[in-house]
Amino acid sequence: MKQLLNIVYLLFLLIAFAGCGKEQSYIVSSPDGSIQLSAEIEDGKIYYSISRHSLRIIDKSQLGFVFKEGNFDRNFRLDEVQYGSFSETWEQPWGEELTADNTYNQMTVCLEEKDGLKRKLSVIFRAFDDGIGFRYHFPEQENLAEFIILDELTEFAVSKEGKAWSIPAYHTEYYEGLYKASDISSLDTVCTPLTIELGDSLYISIHEANLKDYAAMNLTPMGKTSRLKADLTPWSTGEKVFAKAPFSTPWRTIILADKPGDLIVSRLMLNLNEPNEIEDISWIQPGRYIGIWWGMHMEKYTWGQGPKHGATTKNTKLYLDFAAKHGFSGVLVEGWNYGWDGSWSQHGDQFSFTKPYPDFNLDELSKYATIKNTHLIGHHETGGATINYEAQLDSAFSLYQKYGINVVKTGYVNPLLDKKERHSSQYGVRHFRKVIETAAKYRIMIDNHEPVMPTGLQRTYPNLMTQEGVRGQEYDAWSADGGNPPEHTTIIPFTRGLAGPMDFTPGTFNFDNPVFPNTRVQTTIAKQLALNVIIFSPLQMASDMIENYENRPEFSFITSCPSNWSKTVVPEAKIGEYVTIARKDRSTENWFVGSITNAKERMLNLPLSFLDEGAKYKAIIYKDAPDTHYKTNPYPVSIEEAEVTSQMQLNIRQAAGGGTAIMLIKQ
Ligand code: NOJ
Repeated sequence: MKQLLNIVYLLFLLIAFAGCGKEQSYIVSSPDGSIQLSAEIEDGKIYYSISRHSLRIIDKSQLGFVFKEGNFDRNFRLDEVQYGSFSETWEQPWGEELTADNTYNQMTVCLEEKDGLKRKLSVIFRAFDDGIGFRYHFPEQENLAEFIILDELTEFAVSKEGKAWSIPAYHTEYYEGLYKASDISSLDTVCTPLTIELGDSLYISIHEANLKDYAAMNLTPMGKTSRLKADLTPWSTGEKVFAKAPFSTPWRTIILADKPGDLIVSRLMLNLNEPNEIEDISWIQPGRYIGIWWGMHMEKYTWGQGPKHGATTKNTKLYLDFAAKHGFSGVLVEGWNYGWDGSWSQHGDQFSFTKPYPDFNLDELSKYATIKNTHLIGHHETGGATINYEAQLDSAFSLYQKYGINVVKTGYVNPLLDKKERHSSQYGVRHFRKVIETAAKYRIMIDNHEPVMPTGLQRTYPNLMTQEGVRGQEYDAWSADGGNPPEHTTIIPFTRGLAGPMDFTPGTFNFDNPVFPNTRVQTTIAKQLALNVIIFSPLQMASDMIENYENRPEFSFITSCPSNWSKTVVPEAKIGEYVTIARKDRSTENWFVGSITNAKERMLNLPLSFLDEGAKYKAIIYKDAPDTHYKTNPYPVSIEEAEVTSQMQLNIRQAAGGGTAIMLIKQ
């Protein structure tokens, strides 16, 4: 990949040797000078703090570990401090923009225990214009070889109380929760990204980057204060991480922004991952697809064998015909293989990933897909049985490769992997990475459901296209609480969405629910359309059954909407209330806008200043009709056309629970 467009590497390297006085502090600033990180060594312990525009954001916060043998957070003396700078612009194979700017100043604080084993530890701090990343590094050394981490002591002492949007770490399966706003001090132990409003014009989001052979980080308040501490997901035996020096932890990240939209356009997490490892990426292609899927969730079809089996050759051909007619890149087929009969999520070890059910002819269907110029999309539900899956991984991917299937959706429906370990534990992290790496060898793209929280691995392995780890559209089919409330999608772009693409699967057009009459889609149709722009995913599935798209003029927005972008801007947003995102298509000069509101009706006043000056665009606007309301009258959509320029502003009423989707076609 031609990713390094411009490198200015190591502008300077300065090594400062320092003594071991009582309190020493060392500072690194962001390239624009707005953010300052200070590391302090006091009484043998290391701390850091962060200011922005001279305002303290993170107070003095401790760093360090508890190992099985005891604490590794004290009795340190400074060995040396190294400073450096780096700047590059790299090309994103797919994404919300074509390129990412990766410019930072770095400070590495190297410590050594004053006496005893004299073990060494370094902390690497990077200051970007949009935030901070830091990680621990255990260098190769005589007295630290294999070690077991029982606790990571990293603190994030947020300088004042704030409003945090969170889901609890240990009581939410697969991160599929509704984010709740609360004071920092009253949080449970929560997942990251944790996004906090610290005032009208200050937003921070704490997460991690490059989670590799380590446990995922959660956050827990220390007492009833706004001081948070890292909480690593444990193994079933209680240990957190098994490691061997030399070893680096994931980066701990804090994005700092004036407004919520700036969180969305930060590429700090991606910048802290390693560059692309896949040489030829020509086979990695974003797309929009459909699936034999909603029918299972609505209980029209079954995954397992029987009279309602969904994944039949006949049905799949109908979906392939529809995909071909409307230009979809593929058809996901779930329930094609042995293992689904009975309570599959309890018996994941029964899944075969190579043996199709007798009424599903893989050979015939793959040929049919080729003739129709579309693709089958593979599915590997594991029921969380990773040992069974790993034993079949090579044969499973090689079968799909043989039949030209180059996207596979994986699934891990079981609260524990192999009935023992959590998805977000080091065990889970190791498994998920192994699947991505193996898939790359077979030139297969992955859509990972029930994953560990993403941390930017797609920069290194761009075949990791998208992931679930979010409460998606499927909850509108069967969730006992009635479905996703209208504010849900105005929150997730600022929380889970900061961790990477979300396979939310918007696009349900028929809200009737004969099986679960108290559950339904709580949006208008225009909002279903807008979500295709709001929620970024380079592979995005139109959720509904194909029959529900027939004779619906508004379906044209979904079939026209790209899933890969060269620019993204967020003209307005208030977390939990509304958000508007405009994205420029990667392969044309056209822009697409999505705007959504919560349960409150509102006016969208959108200046079109992001368009090219002096150019004319044809706007096709899909908006809520005058009497549309998500509860009482969700279906009416008005489709209007207008000629617009960058000087103009669109003023559009959005219904309660509604939204607007706009195509802007350059003339
Ligand atoms: C849960 C996934 O999120 C859903 O998309 C899938 O249909 C089922 N598991 C079955 O694998």
